[in-house]
Amino acid sequence: MRANQVDMTVAFGLALAALCAQGMEKVIAQFEGDTYGEWTVGGTAFGAGPAKGTLPGQMQVSGFVGKGLVNSFAGGDRATGKLTSPPFTVDRNFITFLIGGGGWKEKTCMNLLVDGQVVRTAVGPNVVPGGSEALEPGSWDVSDLVGKKARIEIVDDATGGWGHINVDQIALCDAAPLPPKRDVTREITADKRWLLMPVKNGAKKSKVEVRTGADVLRFFDIELADAEPDWWAPLDLGAWRGKTLTLWVNRLAGDSKALENIRLSDENFPKEGLYREPLRPQLHFSPRRGWNNDPNGLVFFNGEYHLFFQHNPYGVNWGNMHWGHAVSKDLVHWQEVDEALYPDALGPMFSGSAVVDPANTSGFGKDGKPPLVMIYTAAGNPATQCLAYSLDGRIFTKYDGNPVVKNITGGNRDPKVIWHVPSRRWIMALYVGRGDKRHTVQLLASPNLREWAELSAVEGDRDGGHYLYECPDFFELPVAGTSEKRWVLSAANGQYAVGAFDGTAFKPEAERLRGHWGTAYYAAQTFSDLPDGRRVLIGWLQAPSPGMPFNQGMTLPQELGLVKTAEGIRLTHAPVKELEALRERTQKVGPADLTAGSANPLAGFEAELVELRLACDVLADVVVTAEVRGVPVRYDAAKQELTVAKHAVPWPVKDGKLGLIVYLDRTCVEVFSQDGLFYVPVAVLPEGAARGASLSVEKGTVLGMSGEAHALRSCWR
Ligand code: FRU
Repeated sequence: MRANQVDMTVAFGLALAALCAQGMEKVIAQFEGDTYGEWTVGGTAFGAGPAKGTLPGQMQVSGFVGKGLVNSFAGGDRATGKLTSPPFTVDRNFITFLIGGGGWKEKTCMNLLVDGQVVRTAVGPNVVPGGSEALEPGSWDVSDLVGKKARIEIVDDATGGWGHINVDQIALCDAAPLPPKRDVTREITADKRWLLMPVKNGAKKSKVEVRTGADVLRFFDIELADAEPDWWAPLDLGAWRGKTLTLWVNRLAGDSKALENIRLSDENFPKEGLYREPLRPQLHFSPRRGWNNDPNGLVFFNGEYHLFFQHNPYGVNWGNMHWGHAVSKDLVHWQEVDEALYPDALGPMFSGSAVVDPANTSGFGKDGKPPLVMIYTAAGNPATQCLAYSLDGRIFTKYDGNPVVKNITGGNRDPKVIWHVPSRRWIMALYVGRGDKRHTVQLLASPNLREWAELSAVEGDRDGGHYLYECPDFFELPVAGTSEKRWVLSAANGQYAVGAFDGTAFKPEAERLRGHWGTAYYAAQTFSDLPDGRRVLIGWLQAPSPGMPFNQGMTLPQELGLVKTAEGIRLTHAPVKELEALRERTQKVGPADLTAGSANPLAGFEAELVELRLACDVLADVVVTAEVRGVPVRYDAAKQELTVAKHAVPWPVKDGKLGLIVYLDRTCVEVFSQDGLFYVPVAVLPEGAARGASLSVEKGTVLGMSGEAHALRSCWR
């Protein structure tokens, strides 16, 4: 079907079923193409074609169907314009549509024109600041116009607040659409462990509560599927076995089957196919279902590595922040277990850290068992810092004295706590987002994790920008090859400072250092309490898995170090040695001198998941490319530039020596180079069927190319 044109073929489309009460409908426009087709476009507000969702500077647009919609925010509220359909014959009793945006009569509206006259009009819901960019269903009874030729025009003639209009899914229908259902409830008996909720990615979000009597046990937003779901989101009912619970939903489409379709189950996830999905990262952790962002509470406790993470269990986009939880014996093979922290009256569970408290300073320990203590942000209004603890690493109890740090600034969040040996107390690095946008890391101290006093602040952006913004980490490391140590203060974008910490204040000797050269990395954190004293980091791998029931992932675990360079002391990243456990087959490379036309030293190597380790000498004008499954890693010596997939970064090699470690997974490539001084994580989807690899020289000569190519196995057993 040609989507943007007046299309008089009959559609039984699922999406439109939501708009039409019953029977057949005719699509007028769904706005899924790149252009408006035969519609006439005037002015600039509507752009060159349908928007793919939210436009820059706009609040999140939701409630449209498919990928595209009419969104006259192109050029912001100031822009104006008009979109007019080709003529069509009114041959049904109703015209249905989705509409959102400004609510200004005659200014931000959709009109039905017959003989050039406006015979019906509709506006969006918003005329005051705030409001919502969600599209809502609307309809016109056009039974008196049947047989007439008509056009639709979508008008943006407003330039102030809410000076735009959003429209999608215009259709002719036989019958009036059912009105949406509001405040709907269903009683269930929790006689099975899991409640499975049908999710349709991109559907309009509903608010859901699980209640007993007046108590709200769980609450969240979810894109409920009115009919066929994309996937099922499980909710753990284990704590309320046998009880009668009420499910409440704020709003559902008139003919939605979502509430009936919610079902009880003994299984949370399908056994078949889990971790074998086509875009499931195989070397990197990702959640079974839903969205992840930051790693949280990285800690070694009771013989296990714990990876908590910002998790939306009920959708593939950010929201409903929980602490998801996975455990590992080796940092490589992870087992996801039940959610650790749920949103509560103090707010959603934002990022934070975890420590083991061996001396039981917190008093949460019991019978000589030291507690695991999590320090997290409850991001309600106001946002505060709170504690939860566990004795077994599986059951988590929130401290009843929460919050332990009252609100300092509106944006304060992401506490990272360490035990400071010399002053024998806990130190917290806390991001405080000041109202004037100055990014600051506040240091606080506590004898017992419960009572905190402010120590000093590190100003992040005396000269503007995003330095020291969100998710601080703070730790001490030895400087390789010396007896010196330094403190490192880092933030979400990877930038860091190196300096000294006397137990009260951090004094940087170098600031705003670049922590990574990639695109797919954010909000990294290092582990607490590692028994071997290593400083191991995991970051949020910003690599999407489009179309999957999960989204994003975690970087490879990597060991940090400090080295002295000509420019000063710098951080290094090295993939942890435990990753060697994934090697399945190895092919030696070289040593070989390569020029244009040399035989491919990687000929015959085939793998889906790859680790490459290469070293060579590059002469002044060399251009050399390692390509794995269609993903190039290319070094241009004249330009001093490394390009990973399509991402180019400045890359001076030292003494003409190029060293590369490349890990390729299904959604990303991570490159480590120059003894770990350069780390480049990039999101990429390798060519599906490609399995080969090559090493080739375009220009100049590469001397002594040598190394190994490893075919890796999946970390999911
Ligand atoms: C960083 C961040 C944190 C916050 C969390 C919420 O990605 O914005 O500052 O705690 O995500 O999910």
